[in-house]
Amino acid sequence: MAYSKESLKSTRVTGVAQKYLYIHTIGCQMNVHDSEQIAALLKEKGYQDTGDAGKADLIVINTCSIREKAAQKVYSRVGRFHEYKRRNPRLIICLTGCLAQQEGEKLLKRLPVLDMVIGTHNIHRLPELLETVEKTGSRITETAFRESVQSIRVRTDPRNGAVSAYVTIMQGCDNFCSFCVVPYLRGREESRPEQEILNEIALLADSGVREVTLLGQNVNSYGKRSPDGSDFATLLKKIGKIPGINRIRFTTSHPRDLSEQVVRCFKEVDKLCEHIHLPVQSGSDRILERMNRGYTSAQYREKVARLREVCSGISITSDVIVGFPGETDADFQATLALMDAVRFDNLFSFKYSEREGTAAVKLEGKVEEPLKIERLKVLQSLQEQHTLAGNKSREGRVEAVLVEGASKNSGCDVSGRTRTNRIVNFKGGAELIGKTVSVAITRAYLHSLRGELH
Ligand code: 5AD
Ligand code: SF4
Repeated sequence: MAYSKESLKSTRVTGVAQKYLYIHTIGCQMNVHDSEQIAALLKEKGYQDTGDAGKADLIVINTCSIREKAAQKVYSRVGRFHEYKRRNPRLIICLTGCLAQQEGEKLLKRLPVLDMVIGTHNIHRLPELLETVEKTGSRITETAFRESVQSIRVRTDPRNGAVSAYVTIMQGCDNFCSFCVVPYLRGREESRPEQEILNEIALLADSGVREVTLLGQNVNSYGKRSPDGSDFATLLKKIGKIPGINRIRFTTSHPRDLSEQVVRCFKEVDKLCEHIHLPVQSGSDRILERMNRGYTSAQYREKVARLREVCSGISITSDVIVGFPGETDADFQATLALMDAVRFDNLFSFKYSEREGTAAVKLEGKVEEPLKIERLKVLQSLQEQHTLAGNKSREGRVEAVLVEGASKNSGCDVSGRTRTNRIVNFKGGAELIGKTVSVAITRAYLHSLRGELH
């Protein structure tokens, strides 16, 4: 297989005055990666990342409004932005992401401190629009939807010495779950051409990356509308052959679209890690239907059983929403029952939060906030038991750990992950970073494992 490395040149600063960029990211993995893309685009214009907003010539606030009211977070920070502008009148402040897409011009009017509001489909135009603002001092909004989203093609430079990198393979979503804003703010599904993804991963491998996480709102739909006839299982197999890449992960999968071919990849593609994030959202068929999820609780459990049949040690994590409109006690109990039946390795749980423009806004039976909080607490304490038991079952085993860096908690420790996505801390030096080593697990905690180099 040939990987053209010419077609994807890295961004390089050439003879451009050095300026400082500060990016504040609110939200999900997808957004973290969008911020990496923004940084890559702006590097070409001479902007270097700084961790200090007070020193910046350009502040980008990259918002996500999937679960929270991102607007409130932005409003609460406006005072600080004014202060930065007072100190540096040439400072440019730009808002990007879902909130920008949703509010557009309105935000520019409400918040005079903003210079630019750029929606999800226009990140690639940021350098050009920034130049206009720099030259003319005008204020700009750009929220047009485009048939093809150019920014999914932007290649990011891996952080210096990074072992793990995100790679976008598709974006947008056609599913219209009734609670979710993504289809409205990110638009229809669009897949990246297969060869482009393979080229990018080969380049990442050359620069020392050993693990890639393939990103998409619904990765199982990869290639659905691609003229090259590719599909997700084929893509996984091809990535599995790229030299230098030792681990492949992906997120997120819609249970209905998880095909038998993809399930079998957990056996057939050695490099595919034994972990799947498979959001279930609820254990009640009535609520699943109101959510427009397209599967029943029994069908979800069948997928889990099939995954475990193909790959016995697979780690399964999920997302659950509590307090969706119409959720009764019995519905909530059905979610707890599903959790007991599946025993997720980890679970991300959220209180339902109404999103403007989504179908669920019109549903009756709104659940009061205190009840949502109570249900969330019950659910989280059950999950803690399951997570801890899962982690404890690792004690005494020897695990393959890809070392990612120094541990956050101790200077003499390094930190890495098992193939099942558990964090492991153990004594070791920086020379281990990027290597896969055998670690004997000595102690399990709720959020990590402790071990010794084997
Ligand atoms: N309220 C609460 N949680 C939500 N999610 C998406 N939209 C909402 C909402 N309106 C959660 C889902 C999804 C995850 C990314 O965020 O569980 O899987
Ligand atoms: Fe939102 Fe559903 Fe699409 Fe996930 S699958 S992004 S929850 S609409």
